[in-house]
Amino acid sequence: MMTTNRSVWHATATSPEYDAIGRDQHCDVLVVGGGVIGLTTALYLQQEGTDVVLLEAARIGARTSGNTTGKVTSQHGAIYASLVDRHGRHKAGQYASANQGAVEQIALLVDRLGIECELTRGPSFVYSASNLQREADVAWDLGLPAQLAGPDETGLPGQGTSAVRFDDQVMLHPVRYLAGLARAFIEAGGRIYEHSRVTDLDPTDDRVEALTAVGPRVSAAHAVVATLLPIGTLGGYFARTRPNQSHGIAVRLPVEAPAGMTISADAPVRSTRPWPGGGPNGLIVVGGGHETGAEQDTDAAYRSLIEWVGSLWNTDVQPDYRWSAEDYSTPDLLPYVGKSPGSPILIATGMNKWGLTNGTVAAGILRDTVLGRNNPWSELYDASRIGDAHAVAELIKDNLKVGKEFTAGHLRRILGRGLDHVEVGEGGLYDLDGKTVGAYCDHDGRLHTVVPVCTHLGCPLRWNQGDTTWDCNCHGSRFAPDGSVLDGPATTPLAKPDE
Ligand SMILES: Cc1cc2nc3c(=O)[nH]c(=O)nc-3n(C[C@H](O)[C@H](O)[C@H](O)COP(=O)(O)OP(=O)(O)OC[C@H]3O[C@@H](n4cnc5c(N)ncnc54)[C@H](O)[C@@H]3O)c2cc1C
Ligand code: FES
Repeated sequence: MMTTNRSVWHATATSPEYDAIGRDQHCDVLVVGGGVIGLTTALYLQQEGTDVVLLEAARIGARTSGNTTGKVTSQHGAIYASLVDRHGRHKAGQYASANQGAVEQIALLVDRLGIECELTRGPSFVYSASNLQREADVAWDLGLPAQLAGPDETGLPGQGTSAVRFDDQVMLHPVRYLAGLARAFIEAGGRIYEHSRVTDLDPTDDRVEALTAVGPRVSAAHAVVATLLPIGTLGGYFARTRPNQSHGIAVRLPVEAPAGMTISADAPVRSTRPWPGGGPNGLIVVGGGHETGAEQDTDAAYRSLIEWVGSLWNTDVQPDYRWSAEDYSTPDLLPYVGKSPGSPILIATGMNKWGLTNGTVAAGILRDTVLGRNNPWSELYDASRIGDAHAVAELIKDNLKVGKEFTAGHLRRILGRGLDHVEVGEGGLYDLDGKTVGAYCDHDGRLHTVVPVCTHLGCPLRWNQGDTTWDCNCHGSRFAPDGSVLDGPATTPLAKPDE
């Protein structure tokens, strides 16, 4: 069987479709972005009698949320000892309660709304070559269902010498879950418009006006931006986060797959869970993480996952599906959720690859902020915090360095290759009449050319052959071969060489 370059979730479920926005709209709350955060926030608010419009640039769940591992767990790697060290026991305990609460909240939503999303419960393991006794003790002390486990319990042959087990965690089919949230939101009276990218947000007096790429505008009393990273330069979050891309494969093992969820605490990170659609031997493996736009050979990330499976089970595997997605990390391991500094607009970003639970916590904070209520977690996730000043300063320095180094490397690689060198199925940087252009030749032989300069803040782009996308290492914008935006902060497509 050939490998399909698509997430196993998107390939095995269809989401409801919604029209693009056709005329100007008024509402109480505008939610921008139809991932887990946008959809959960929109549903929560609509259920409270608020009139909500949700604008989605592509399709519901199309980007990161629909490409996750589908783990709903408070076990975010071996994070709890680090959280106590950095933030103290009180805040670490708040993080633990918020996320364990989100596991149960998601299970409750699935049950109450009757969402068919293959929800199952099982243990989650984090394992390491180092002793995880302290992580187990700290997590238990913070009230989590944690205990030290033998590495054999993970079901992964020969991995680690120590493990921590969290009981009664949840796995689900993320695309089906998101489709269920969208249906429930519509049934509660909400409005969703797909293919309606927001290009700008203009706060005036007591309202916010959103401009869309398709023309009509939305005027709202409140705006929530849940676009993975806030669009444009809103709140300066592009300089306070780093974009990380991870890769996933769905494979069939020669033996029954491990029944629980697993993740390595050591690098390279490998995250697994059963793949119900692949039968008893079906396994999903996610890893191969790197900063978006930083890798020369993106195919290597997929190969490394396949080789890892091959070495554990002494077999040759060919994945049924492979895909990638990105998420943003913060310098202090905590997401940013709430009011963006100096603006009435609300945001949620920096989920550190745990946005199914963190994003559900975020939705509760956003709902309560809009409704003027207290929320127990809003201070912990405060979007305007400076946090650990040293860590933030390091991150801003990294952000600046990335732009500079990337520019130098980028220019060196393009010398001497004319457009006639583009092979079918390949892309990269080429020379066109002395100018550098980006080009990709699709499998029908059509040549797509773009100006390979990011429309966010002008960084040069790197071609990602593994996923056939143009990626920006500065702040994580990604573009399709024809130049259309896949992930932003960017909101406008790449220019064409003749423009
Ligand atoms: C490979 C991978 C696996 C992961 N696995 C897990 C897991 O198992 N469990 C877990 O808890 N977390 C996991 N995560 C993290 C989690 O998926 C993310 O934190 C979460 O999905 C982020 O949700 P979001 O709503 O912010 O983003 P998204 O799902 O990306 O949603 C943002 C939406 O906004 C839209 N948008 C963007 N710009 C605009 C615009 N200008 N106008 C209108 N719409 C716009 C996008 O099209 C998109 O649909 C994983 C992450 C990765 C990368
Ligand atoms: S994402 Fe900021 S310059 Fe590309």
